[in-house]
Amino acid sequence: MPAAKKLRSYDWFGKNDKMGFVHRSWLRNQGYPDDYFQGRPVIGICNTWSELTPCNGHLREFAEVVKRGVAEAGGFPLEFPVTSLGETIMRPTTMLFRNLASMDTEESIRANPIDGVILLTGCDKTTPSTLMGACSVNLPTLIVPGGPMLNGRFKGSCLGSGSFNWMVKEKLLVDNYTEADILEAEIGAARSQGHCMTMGTASTMACMVEALGLTLPGAAAIPAVDSRKKVLAQLSGRRIVEMVKEDLTLSKILTRQAFENAIVVNSAIGGSTNFIIHLLAIAGRIGVNLTLEDFDRIGSNIPLLVNLKPSGEYLMEDFYYAGGLPVVIKALQNLLHNDAITVNGKTIGENNSSPVCYNNDVIRDIATPLQENAGIAVLKGNLCQNGAIIKPSAATDKLMQHKGPAVVFETMEDYHARIDDEDLEIDENSIIVLKGVGPVGYPGMPEVGNVDLPEKLLKKGVKDLIRISDGRMSGTAGGTVVLHVSPESSVGGVLALVKNGDIIELDVAARRLHLNVSEDELERRKLAWVAPEPVADRGYVKFYIDHVQQAHLGADIDILRGGSGSKVTRDLH
Ligand code: FES
Repeated sequence: MPAAKKLRSYDWFGKNDKMGFVHRSWLRNQGYPDDYFQGRPVIGICNTWSELTPCNGHLREFAEVVKRGVAEAGGFPLEFPVTSLGETIMRPTTMLFRNLASMDTEESIRANPIDGVILLTGCDKTTPSTLMGACSVNLPTLIVPGGPMLNGRFKGSCLGSGSFNWMVKEKLLVDNYTEADILEAEIGAARSQGHCMTMGTASTMACMVEALGLTLPGAAAIPAVDSRKKVLAQLSGRRIVEMVKEDLTLSKILTRQAFENAIVVNSAIGGSTNFIIHLLAIAGRIGVNLTLEDFDRIGSNIPLLVNLKPSGEYLMEDFYYAGGLPVVIKALQNLLHNDAITVNGKTIGENNSSPVCYNNDVIRDIATPLQENAGIAVLKGNLCQNGAIIKPSAATDKLMQHKGPAVVFETMEDYHARIDDEDLEIDENSIIVLKGVGPVGYPGMPEVGNVDLPEKLLKKGVKDLIRISDGRMSGTAGGTVVLHVSPESSVGGVLALVKNGDIIELDVAARRLHLNVSEDELERRKLAWVAPEPVADRGYVKFYIDHVQQAHLGADIDILRGGSGSKVTRDLH
């Protein structure tokens, strides 16, 4: 008996003709009974598992749990792999491959007999890349975030994975740590399956998709090794089958209101600056008009409620035990679009109407926040005509309004060669300017914006300097770091024209980033500027350099914005 015609998979499995035979027959070699081809919704389980992505190393096991739920609800689960991006392993940077992974996901979904999708994600880029790809197909889609690791432990205290590594240089130089101490920290920082357990980019992405309405309620904070994560995975498997029946596609959930909710929530959790670039790219795929300015307008006056590193003290395990994201969403209810629909068919307001906060120090209430205005600030000025960003909650107060001379590094290689040179002219008033780390320039816009301070200043006790670049910063890092300068230096942005000793003014309250050099002088420098040689002349990297958009647009590939839906064209054999 043919499958119900309304299912997309009917076109593969439902017909009693030559191709129906082909599509069913080969799949039967895996031992599926006949009824699996008779109208069961086919659920693609898009798995970013890889042993080279340590944060996603447990997702194969999770896929089996999701399959249990899909089968229970009468679906036909089929797991498939897509490009996985291991943040700590891949070189030169996973961001170079985010768009590639999104293409893989998009084409894998569209080309196959899939009616609904579960995205199994974890490490930083695996959530936005798969979601971007899924948006361009727009099927019913539900995300199961893999969950954070248990809190790191070191010398009897908690240790945030992804945070300590930024302090290794300082710990060795200033705090007299031994190599054995560092090894102990290395081992204790990642002591269970899961992704970084600070409020870094992976945790931020998990909270982002929960706030967008793309997970079952409470998904983001559950640790990877907590049995309740598997319960969530199984329930997600059941639910996606229902979503197919209800035709609850991504575009019905990812409305402008959902994006605005995500921005508000991100401010309250002290989320990563990478949130901006990924959310912009996701909005571009689903066709919602979101701009860099929206993040400041909607998010910058939101109080910081979540006391997690790097902005605060605790870690994701503590966040989960305190009640997790539902507590935050409930606290923000007067600032959210509570009627935004979510994957379980209920609104975000309904889903989060009665959570209990079990630790007011981990999740503050709105009357006693950690900080009044916590969102990411969008800067404008002659140094960043299309914008730049800074995360005030991770910055040093006294540097938020500062004027100082630039110490310029033309590339990362230049930085490494000179930063610890005793003769480098740099002091606590200096502003480090790093060029050549944007989307086109590096290429791939790596997380290097929070470059280490020079040894001689660290030894003097200097903890922070303003650093300005066209690159990004790890969500686990902190400091007074101006990022995502657009246009970037390698395409001729004013950043390319900064010289040693130029005076730069940063005024975060006024949202201003200004290079104190006259228009005439800038014009002269522009005429003398020579674009750097492209780093690739073939393959994906060449394609990326030729097509990547600037940071203020989300650094997506220009021809990947928007979607092509789920229809397969030219299927005539
Ligand atoms: Fe994967 Fe931090 S390295 S989440």
